[in-house]
Amino acid sequence: MYGLAGAAAHRVLLIIAVLGLLGAALWFVLPVANGEFAMNAQEVHNTSERIDLPQPVRESTVSIEEALEKRRSVRDFTQEAVSLEALGQLLWAAQGITSDAGKRTAPSAGATYPLEIYVVVERVDGLDAGIYHYVPDTHALVQSATGRFARDLQEAALDQGFIGEAPINLVVAAEFQRTQNRYGARGERYVYMEAGHATQNVYLQCQSLELEAVVVGAFTDQQVKAVTELPEPQQPLYIMPVGKSDGS
Ligand SMILES: Cc1cc2nc3c(=O)[nH]c(=O)nc-3n(C[C@H](O)[C@H](O)[C@H](O)COP(=O)(O)O)c2cc1C
Repeated sequence: MYGLAGAAAHRVLLIIAVLGLLGAALWFVLPVANGEFAMNAQEVHNTSERIDLPQPVRESTVSIEEALEKRRSVRDFTQEAVSLEALGQLLWAAQGITSDAGKRTAPSAGATYPLEIYVVVERVDGLDAGIYHYVPDTHALVQSATGRFARDLQEAALDQGFIGEAPINLVVAAEFQRTQNRYGARGERYVYMEAGHATQNVYLQCQSLELEAVVVGAFTDQQVKAVTELPEPQQPLYIMPVGKSDGS
């Protein structure tokens, strides 16, 4: 008799315990699903949000000769934000798709396309501060981190102050193996050449957008990799701060 009642009570306790655990699990899971837990601005990574960029324009009143004549490395930036249209245009200039076969604005040895472009955003109209990866195929950005990282990038680049001041910093990275799989050791130099082509395109594009820029090669690779959380096979080649300048 006592044994039967004891077994029943045991079962009831077990059911209560299981229901309690389920309730606790739902308590934690539901607010996350509803996005109720605010994200920590500085440290949120892997947000994977896709942002379609405005279509690039293909015409300008600034001639190529004028852009070549005026191009200069500029290192003082105002606080003015960059528009999303301008950011999209700069990324298209760097690596945009310009043919049905998938060829791009910059040449690439054997069309192996080793470059990947990231943007450390401080001030872009309509975009949260954070780190974004440019996807040429869809002309879109994928956000990988939320928060302000320009000062960290500045520290990674021998504390060159204009990096922290710029509204955006492009980070040109490369996966060497894509090109070296075809060209062996010689492929290494091809990748560096390609980074030059892409960033020169950005310099020239800046001229028709009334923006200024500078290429930066002086930085500690591991620090830049850590700030931008580059995937392991990718190496940073250039940081390129871009913004408005009042010419002072
Ligand atoms: C490979 C390379 C690395 C560079 N690295 C830096 C850098 O770390 N910091 C910087 O302020 N400028 C850097 N520059 C920009 C040069 O200082 C600049 O191009 C040079 O002074 C000529 O000026 P211009 O670009 O206005 O014609 C770099 C340029 C190149 C090509």
